[in-house]
Amino acid sequence: MDKQEFEFRKATIKDNDAIFKLYKQVSKRSGGLARSNDEVSKKYVEQFILKSLNKGVEFVVIDKFQENRIIGEIHCYKLDPKVFNHVFSELTIAIDPDYQGKGLGKKLFETLLNYIVASRRDILRVELIAAESNIRAIKMYESLGFIIEGRFERRITSPDNKLEADIPMAWFNPKYSR
Ligand SMILES: CC(C)(COP(=O)(O)OP(=O)(O)OC[C@H]1O[C@@H](n2cnc3c(N)ncnc32)[C@H](O)[C@@H]1OP(=O)(O)O)[C@@H](O)C(=O)NCCC(=O)NCCS
Repeated sequence: MDKQEFEFRKATIKDNDAIFKLYKQVSKRSGGLARSNDEVSKKYVEQFILKSLNKGVEFVVIDKFQENRIIGEIHCYKLDPKVFNHVFSELTIAIDPDYQGKGLGKKLFETLLNYIVASRRDILRVELIAAESNIRAIKMYESLGFIIEGRFERRITSPDNKLEADIPMAWFNPKYSR
């Protein structure tokens, strides 16, 4: 990879196949996404895109010098019950392994949070859960302003097949208003 230029934009339903390919790539490595490679199906990807477009938000990052290939994605959305209308939940972020560690995950996440601050006063909370061993992700979330809200003991199976804690985290929108 010599020349690099990246664009951050909202996702559309047309990105379906490219996001599916990205999730297949990212899930080859264990210890990041909750789903393993064989659990990433076209239906799963289509469902989270539709939920994010209808009830949430989704951004992608594109490599302009690789035929606009999608190399990262983030999404979250509201749960169905109206009592959670001020919450974006079910958050997942994935950066292509070839592009990890270059600051793109953090920038993509900042794009999402900046959008919420600027345009989504209806959203107070953004929440996510990360496996305790996913230290890289947890550090990144803390640097973005997320706080650890507790720990779910032995909730998730780790890459080395042990039960480990899942860490619930939340970020609060300073511009929220009811
Ligand atoms: C987690 C993930 C989204 C981070 O994206 P990224 O582009 O690789 O990360 P960035 O380069 O933007 O780095 C962001 C932060 O991660 C941390 N980080 C980056 N590389 C790291 C490394 N090699 N070791 C430890 N921490 C690291 C740092 O805190 C960094 O922030 P800082 O440099 O400002 O201190 C990405 O690695 C990924 O897609 N992983 C697989 C899927 C996954 O785990 N998703 C999250 C599920 S909860």
